[in-house]
Amino acid sequence: MASRRVAVIGGDGIGPEVVAEARKVVRAAGVELEEVDYDLGGAAYLRTGEVLPDRVLEELRGFDAILLGAVGAPDVPPGVIERGLLLRLRFELDLYVNLRPFHSERLNCYVVRENTEGTYAGEGGFLRKGTPHEIATQGSVNTRMGVERCVRFAFELAQSRQRRHLTLVHKTNVLTFAGDLWQRTFDEVAGEFPDVETAYNHVDAACIYFVESPERYDVIVTDNLFGDILTDLGGAVAGGIGLAASANLNPSRTGPSLFEPVHGSAPDIVGTGKANPLAAIRSAAMMLDFLGEADAAARVEKAVSEAASLTGTTTELGDAVAERV
Ligand code: IPM
Ligand code: MN
Repeated sequence: MASRRVAVIGGDGIGPEVVAEARKVVRAAGVELEEVDYDLGGAAYLRTGEVLPDRVLEELRGFDAILLGAVGAPDVPPGVIERGLLLRLRFELDLYVNLRPFHSERLNCYVVRENTEGTYAGEGGFLRKGTPHEIATQGSVNTRMGVERCVRFAFELAQSRQRRHLTLVHKTNVLTFAGDLWQRTFDEVAGEFPDVETAYNHVDAACIYFVESPERYDVIVTDNLFGDILTDLGGAVAGGIGLAASANLNPSRTGPSLFEPVHGSAPDIVGTGKANPLAAIRSAAMMLDFLGEADAAARVEKAVSEAASLTGTTTELGDAVAERV
């Protein structure tokens, strides 16, 4: 297979540490990638004053995939890096599915999180800022096209699985406009997948079920913000956030998809060797799978499950997985 080009953004905090282990494991799995490093994130922004130069974005479009550690730094105001780098990449590259798998004894499911719309879209603003009459609005943007393509992806995924079960998670009893669009779209697309069993849960109830009866879930589809929150909870239920992987996918493959652990940059543990690299390694496995290396991806996943019970430093855990692939 022709060499695949991967842009690597280590980012901030523990990002570079966990990404180094992910690269080690990819190499150990025998997959040749042409890797190009990009120095982006909070630290780079503080040094250069730029978050994501247009020229860099254009370069990134030419890669087959992007592997990202974590971005965000305590000395940068909230949102600058998150919106300017991570969300900008999700939007510009049209990474409309954020796929987050959970494989543990209790929770064995995929969350399909819509990744380009909802409250993340950035609609809103201030009126009379700084006065006692200040108003802040933050809208939720839901397009028929955006909801439908995400829901269809989730149905296709559910159909490919043994249980063939898909749950829509929303808050249709309160978010009656957005919820109505999601529910109607879900029901219409369901008509194309008669072999997939469907269910609906309000997001607050889904939080209880994640803790009390997670076995009920196979595939979940949900909006951007609900998916953000539910997948942190999923990480906590399924062995800790240090294991939770994610893939920001452009399923139409008109550009690179982006693979990153669910966890953040954890600046408090930088350099201590405490960062768990398994989420980054599993994200790299999702990348290999998406790049057509299903066999290598499966070997990495298996090695990670074998290593998941081990304790050790960041590099020791990376080595343990690398030895097992
Ligand atoms: C995630 C993160 C991001 C999100 C932040 C860093 C913008 O929490 O990938 O879940 O909210 O989507
Ligand atoms: Mn999150």
